[in-house]
Amino acid sequence: MKHRTIIEPFRIKSVEPIGLSTEEERAEHLINAHYNPFLLHSRDVIIDLMTDSGTSAMSAHQWAGMMEGDEAYAGSRSWERMEQEVRDLTGMPHILPAHQGRAAERIIYGHLGRPGKVFISNTHFDTTRANIEFSGAMAIDIPIAEGKDTALQHPFKGNMDVAALDQLLKEHKGHVGAVILTVTNNSGGGQPVSLANAEGVASICRKHDVLFLLDCCRIAENSWFVKHREPGMEGSTYRQIAQRMFALADGAVMSAKKDALVNMGGFLALRDEVLADACTNLLIITEGFTTYGGLSGRDMEAIAIGLREVFDPHYLDYRIKSTTYLGRKLHELGVPLMRPIGGHAVYIDAKKLYAHIPPHQYPGQALVCELYRLGGIRSVEIGSVMFGKYVADGSLIPSAMELVRLAIPRRVYTQSHIEYVAEAFEEVLRQRDRVRGYRIVKEPKFLRHFTAHFEPIV
Ligand code: F0G
Repeated sequence: MKHRTIIEPFRIKSVEPIGLSTEEERAEHLINAHYNPFLLHSRDVIIDLMTDSGTSAMSAHQWAGMMEGDEAYAGSRSWERMEQEVRDLTGMPHILPAHQGRAAERIIYGHLGRPGKVFISNTHFDTTRANIEFSGAMAIDIPIAEGKDTALQHPFKGNMDVAALDQLLKEHKGHVGAVILTVTNNSGGGQPVSLANAEGVASICRKHDVLFLLDCCRIAENSWFVKHREPGMEGSTYRQIAQRMFALADGAVMSAKKDALVNMGGFLALRDEVLADACTNLLIITEGFTTYGGLSGRDMEAIAIGLREVFDPHYLDYRIKSTTYLGRKLHELGVPLMRPIGGHAVYIDAKKLYAHIPPHQYPGQALVCELYRLGGIRSVEIGSVMFGKYVADGSLIPSAMELVRLAIPRRVYTQSHIEYVAEAFEEVLRQRDRVRGYRIVKEPKFLRHFTAHFEPIV
């Protein structure tokens, strides 16, 4: 039978209750959270689309594996399983465990970065940029021009601008820390990167003799797009496509909290022994011994299993198509979106939705608050709150885009939850003209979106 309904390719064995609330209660919660959803209690959230990171539901197989976790300080069997699995997938000899992506980032970018160095990426994720800038180095984003136009259709909007890369590597000769390809490109809209683009980036990096790293936390999802959109790739398996991409790089940083289908974990994979040794020293000082790096044996067991499960074609098909389903529904309602829909999330163009709110009054933050107030849905602003930069006179240079991300946790919500989200957007649209912007009343120096306090502008 050819069917229209995307069924979840799993059934539910264990459930977690969702606390329902009224709009009045949520208005109160928003005040208490200073209009920053990061400061809400999760028990007050109905549908949590804040992130797809660490929010996956693990399989029965993973939970069973947890019981097999070997918690030895050194030489844990679970580490051997994880190391074997990561080596097999990445083809890289040196694997360093870390408790999450940013821990691996701090190790490698802390080692490679210093004042005067530059790092170049299709788009640095916020923690990647923060780790690089914290070292004193500079992070430059060069997505392709098509990636910046939210309405434009293009199969690989996550691609890096290869000509700009060549130019930058000439300009910064001798000062490049690394080139980082983020797959899929999270901050740029959850958009995929083609294998051809990765090949182009790799060959330019080789020409200039600079290190080429993959930020590979959603590489299985990226492989789905390559298989279905890139000419000549339909005959390869998702895993083979990922392996071909890894084969092009000198190293990879992974937050296992995404495509390894676990709640905590990460790793650094490297080809070069000298670089791996330097990173290992830092690993032992800050994360833990080389055979656990901040992870429990049971976490490593779950990662080893999750990294296999994620390449299951039925899972990946359901995953990408169900994200697209939400995007398509919202598009049909008339919600301005980043298109085509990416792998792990739907990105709303808040600048277009709330055209009456200027960027320095944070239209994305306004939408995030509206979604929570109206539907108890938690989402994240990816715009001028996250990436705006102050200049010397205290004014704000806004981010190129004002997006709001609805990130879909893996294997967690069913289709009726997604229908509910779409329904909340009907109300968002009905009330759009009434919505006002926000001002920041308190903020830290780095990663301000996590803890900043806001006030509505009346
Ligand atoms: N790189 C990318 C592309 C990411 O999306 C993330 C995390 C990281 C690195 C850092 O990994 O959280 O394990 O330290 N992204 C999460 C998100 C937080 O919501 O997109 P981490």
